[in-house]
Amino acid sequence: MKTIAVLTSGGDAPGMNAAIRAVVRAGISMGLKVKGIRRGYAGLIEGDIIDMDARSVSDIIHRGGTMLYTARCPEFKTQEGIDKAVASCKKHGIDGIVVIGGDGSFRGARDLSLGGIPCIGVPGTIDNDISSTEYTIGYDTAINTAVEMADKLRDTAQSHDRCSVVEVMGRRAGYLALQTGVACGAIAVLVPEVEFDLQKDVIEKIKTVHKTGKKHFVVVVAEGVGGVVDIAAKIEEETGIESRATILGHVQRGGIPTARDRVMASQMGYRAVELLNKGIGNRVITFVENKLGDKDIYEALAMKKQFSIDEYNMATAISI
Ligand code: ADP
Ligand code: F6P
Repeated sequence: MKTIAVLTSGGDAPGMNAAIRAVVRAGISMGLKVKGIRRGYAGLIEGDIIDMDARSVSDIIHRGGTMLYTARCPEFKTQEGIDKAVASCKKHGIDGIVVIGGDGSFRGARDLSLGGIPCIGVPGTIDNDISSTEYTIGYDTAINTAVEMADKLRDTAQSHDRCSVVEVMGRRAGYLALQTGVACGAIAVLVPEVEFDLQKDVIEKIKTVHKTGKKHFVVVVAEGVGGVVDIAAKIEEETGIESRATILGHVQRGGIPTARDRVMASQMGYRAVELLNKGIGNRVITFVENKLGDKDIYEALAMKKQFSIDEYNMATAISI
């Protein structure tokens, strides 16, 4: 292993820059050459590759987004795309790659590894939906952003005795929504992993709690459930409580990464380079039971993430 490269792929996440910085500087410290691949797998195929040195990652640790840009690249899902990417690695003398992204990006890393380029996956997504790890870079910043926004909505809901229905990102997963709901004291959280009855679990609950003197409400809805405008309209119609819908959207993907995201990104990036430097590839970095580790990429992709029904039930029980 003489030259390694780093790329970010899929949706960006706060802390990706800290991970890039860690990879570049760890690589240099270990005597490796480091290259940056811009725009994920698309940039790899097209050869959008730059040399990195310690100074090229100066002043990014505290910035959201990714200085290497990111992309979704459908071509990479084809054998032709993989072949082009492998050829590009050969042309640029890249012996191994650190791929920072989500499960989709890890599938790409698996295919690239099969093509003979060892890859290490570093989990980076605000969704925290990667099966092999309990923590993903960007999640902490995103949940803090979502909670800050929900708190602001609660202020105005409180002033007007209203119900605020808030959509939180997460693609098909409800982890971000559930914990946002817990942290902002939502009366109900709707996630794709748990079946719900809008009438019984939300409307009747609001009516019951309203009678006990509570006058304003926050309902958190995961993006994978959607339909916040209709849900707000139904709540207003059935309860008589004025309701408004807000889709938080991409604000959750940006902003200054929290200390936790920066520290985790630094640790994960460093660990990824340690592995590559030992000639170990085809693994993903994990954080399980408060311990950093790594796992075979195939095993990691075969895992199914468990949704914590206990946490969901707790959230329901204390929102009365
Ligand atoms: P994330 O990594 O955040 O889950 P995506 O699912 O959009 O984001 O995946 C990012 C990129 O990873 C895709 O645009 C594609 O280039 C690559 N990718 C995703 N799924 C696969 C797959 N099954 N095989 C190969 N590459 C994939
Ligand atoms: O995976 C991160 C994420 O922000 C998801 O929560 C969301 O569903 C998706 O990306 C949005 O993607 P795009 O930026 O392409 O709209």
